[in-house]
Amino acid sequence: MRNLIILDTTLRDGCQAPGFSLSEKEKLMFALQLENLGVDIIEAGFPYASPEETRAVEMIAEALSKSFVSVLARARKEDIISAVRGIQKARKKIIHLSLPVSPILREYKLHKSKSEVLKMASHFTEFARGYVDEVEFGAEDAARTEMDFLLEFYSVVIHAGASIINIPDTVGCADPDEFGAIVSRVKKEVVIPSGKKVRISVHCHNDLGLAVANTLSGVKSGAEQIEVTVGGIGERSGNAALEEVVLALNCRRDIYSDVFFGQIRMGEITRAANLLSALTGIAPAPNKPITGWNAFRHSSGMHQYGMIQNAMSYSIIDPVKIGRDDNQLALSQHSGKEGLSKAVFDFTGIVLSDEGAAASLSGFKEFAGGKKAVSGTDLLEWLSSFKNFQLKPYYALRNCSYKFKMKNDHEVEILLARKPGKKNVLLKGKGNSVESAVIFALQKILPYKIRILESQWTHSAVESKAGSSAKIILEYKGARFSGESYLGAGFQAMVESILSAVNWALQKEVI
Ligand code: KIV
Ligand code: ZN
Repeated sequence: MRNLIILDTTLRDGCQAPGFSLSEKEKLMFALQLENLGVDIIEAGFPYASPEETRAVEMIAEALSKSFVSVLARARKEDIISAVRGIQKARKKIIHLSLPVSPILREYKLHKSKSEVLKMASHFTEFARGYVDEVEFGAEDAARTEMDFLLEFYSVVIHAGASIINIPDTVGCADPDEFGAIVSRVKKEVVIPSGKKVRISVHCHNDLGLAVANTLSGVKSGAEQIEVTVGGIGERSGNAALEEVVLALNCRRDIYSDVFFGQIRMGEITRAANLLSALTGIAPAPNKPITGWNAFRHSSGMHQYGMIQNAMSYSIIDPVKIGRDDNQLALSQHSGKEGLSKAVFDFTGIVLSDEGAAASLSGFKEFAGGKKAVSGTDLLEWLSSFKNFQLKPYYALRNCSYKFKMKNDHEVEILLARKPGKKNVLLKGKGNSVESAVIFALQKILPYKIRILESQWTHSAVESKAGSSAKIILEYKGARFSGESYLGAGFQAMVESILSAVNWALQKEVI
């Protein structure tokens, strides 16, 4: 068994991407979750970039008790000094040096010859090595570099004291076979002095959508460390997504049987992805593997039928294992009678006969036709068009107005309209997220506890900005209810989606 070291660079390469930069406190919060997730090394930032980045790195270095901390520095004295300052308090300090090596970057960015590059690499490795436990050296743009020069570069930095050599596909141009071949040659041909331990790291970008494939190819070819980010965020089209690489290794143990990555707590994957979305205000694309909203939702009639018979029919991953809710049959105009019957039963307790479901299917498809998705509230609306179905709103919570204050905690005030004849009610709640503050407020008038199983929210940190959408799954009295809202401004979508799910739960309670 060989141990695969997982270096997470969400807080460095990931936060370099437009829209993903985080404050010091947010970075610390995320670093603690990465430690919970079990990553071996957290690349905490590039301290030379700004005083705020240095402070964030310092806070992370001091707070972590298990994961090692790495920081990026270019092969420059000032960068290395900032990096050393940033990680002073880390349990184990790693500096990740990077120097361009490809012909195009040597000529146009660095303006240096091959021999000058080698001299710089050697000099700054020795310089950094004097301050830290380990030096990682990345040959920037390795995938576009002459092989003989690349091999020489790695030999030089190892000789000067580097114990991790990084092979980055900086521009995301590599093909998996080609990238694997580079890793194999580095592994075979770079001379390592006897008694010295050196590991190969791979760092792949996703410009052609191949970052995960290239990373896995690197692992197959003997890489001992991978550099990944949660959600695959990073420069341009991002880096290899941690969750995708880990799940590929896990699902295809038949191929990767010799790779050990048991330090990763897979149950924390969803929490890490959700925290990143909450901090950045950017949710993954719905079809993104593992963490996208639709990754475990089955919509077409053919697939729903298969899933009802056996969950393995169309799902290769148990979502519960990664901290998500179970597989779901999502109602839509593409659903079949089995999916419709199951949803009607789940939410109303009514058992539709096979003939009943078949007869009502075309009406349902007509109803669902214009909708992006059919939520629980929609289903109840459709059912209420049947004469013998009595919709019995209990609270019929409707959001009249809401106010948010965001200091340390999220604070929320919601004015809710209740069913006719009952007074409106003003509720206040606090929580460490908008969702939990709203639930806290609602809990005051609900007889049973609500638990958030999943939530996804695309919003802007600026409350007034339009364009929010929110999706939530709640547990209430042992049953699951989902709510969705695509209602514009600020936090409204989240409030509406929660109310939709809660109304659904209350409807079920009186049946
Ligand atoms: O992609 C890259 O080459 C990098 C280096 C700085 C490691 O991010
Ligand atoms: Zn990168």
